[in-house]
Amino acid sequence: MTQTNSGSFSLTNNRTGESWDLPVIDGSVGPSVIDVRRLYGQTGHFTYDPGFTSTGSCESGLTYIDGETGVLLHRGYPIEDLAEHSHFLEVAYLLLYGDLPNREQSDEFVNTITYHTMVHEQITTFFRGFRRDAHPMAIMCGVVGALSAFYHDSTDITDPHARTVASHRLVAKMPTIAAMAFKYSLGQPFNYPQNRLTYAENFLHMLFAVPTQTYEMSPVLARAMDRLLILHADHEQNASTSTVRLAGSSGANPFACIAAGIASLWGPAHGGANEAVLNMLNEIGNRDRIGEFVKRAKDPDDPFRMMGFGHRVYKNHDPRARVLMQSCHEVLEALGVEDPLLDLAMELERIALEDEYFVQRNLYPNVDFYSGIILKAMGLPTSMFTVLFAVARTTGWIAQWKEMTEDPTQKIGRPRQLYTGPDRRAFRPLADRG
Ligand code: SDX
Repeated sequence: MTQTNSGSFSLTNNRTGESWDLPVIDGSVGPSVIDVRRLYGQTGHFTYDPGFTSTGSCESGLTYIDGETGVLLHRGYPIEDLAEHSHFLEVAYLLLYGDLPNREQSDEFVNTITYHTMVHEQITTFFRGFRRDAHPMAIMCGVVGALSAFYHDSTDITDPHARTVASHRLVAKMPTIAAMAFKYSLGQPFNYPQNRLTYAENFLHMLFAVPTQTYEMSPVLARAMDRLLILHADHEQNASTSTVRLAGSSGANPFACIAAGIASLWGPAHGGANEAVLNMLNEIGNRDRIGEFVKRAKDPDDPFRMMGFGHRVYKNHDPRARVLMQSCHEVLEALGVEDPLLDLAMELERIALEDEYFVQRNLYPNVDFYSGIILKAMGLPTSMFTVLFAVARTTGWIAQWKEMTEDPTQKIGRPRQLYTGPDRRAFRPLADRG
């Protein structure tokens, strides 16, 4: 990776008159950065940026987002083009290896992933410890974390081959484990992967096939699943990706790092929003009540937020949401499904985007706003929506982890703080504490 220094920023302490030059580093596209790595040593001060709204945590070449114009590129390719013309394993290859594969590379990668989709038979016993009504994201945290026990000895992360094998295992096994979590909640038997199927077809088959009859594969659903996986694959240094990077920066087992990412993604402010959007649409019920919920979303004293709206980076349309809205119409039409929730969602989007509160704060629908409607049409319960997100994002997480691990400048992540607690004070024995 190449960084080019271009110019600097002067920093002056107005109390002492001291000043320092902070180097500026340009990336290939987007904002340059002010390099503050030596700031504490030079000034005795930390930077302060809770939530990292203006802080770059790393250098990366995987994904670029322009939030002002609603652009999302994976290794330079626009997400709209990849969603339209590519397939998920091709995007996984792109994220992991830097460019789209040629025919030979694609065939080899698809074959490798296909032959890693089975999990150790012992994994099935981990499910037995969960109640049948356990949230599938809780199961994913547990079972994916348990994978670290199966591969700890063979995962020397300083060995490039071991890093590649760990990446392939995670991309390959996540749909299998996700489908097992769903089947367990239904009390139905697990399905083994079928090597004759594509990645998306295999996922659908493991989710919905039952031993008593042949599963009829719907090309429309397979295409919709593949597109959903592409749209959720990676997204710069979001909360769960930053969690994986921070966990991985200590040299931890990559399977355990992915489990940490799953935990972070589960939150309703992040990947859990797709489940929360459907619950919100069901609570709104009909368009007559939209105004009531918009009012609540605007009320600073009401903790309610309009799920599926807003984004830390996008201050324009989330390009993924636009592709998903189109996909919604295609899937519902192809399935002959009339889902009033789609009409309700589109009416909610229309009303919200006319409201000054949303317009002023650039609160547009994000990736989670429409995805749930497609997943519901596929026959998945809302509790499985974030699981799908985790299956797709595992590719982004492990590609980011691999990039970090292979970055020669990488150090363990260890942020500092603004301390506002008590200064040194003497210990008081219990008898003197009143
Ligand atoms: C994902 O980071 C990523 O890339 C994430 C993701 C990915 O692919 O990895 O894109 C996936 O997580 C998408 C986001 C899914 N989350 C939701 O849909 C939950 C609802 N959205 C909000 O919680 C919120 O918009 C966030 C968390 C997404 C972003 O929050 P920020 O950037 O910290 O913004 P903020 O909380 O500072 O809000 C700014 C203002 C505030 O009002 P004021 O204090 O200025 O008056 O906007 C308001 C907020 O109250 N606001 C909302 C709102 N989102 C922000 N008000 C009502 N409803 C909302 N949804």
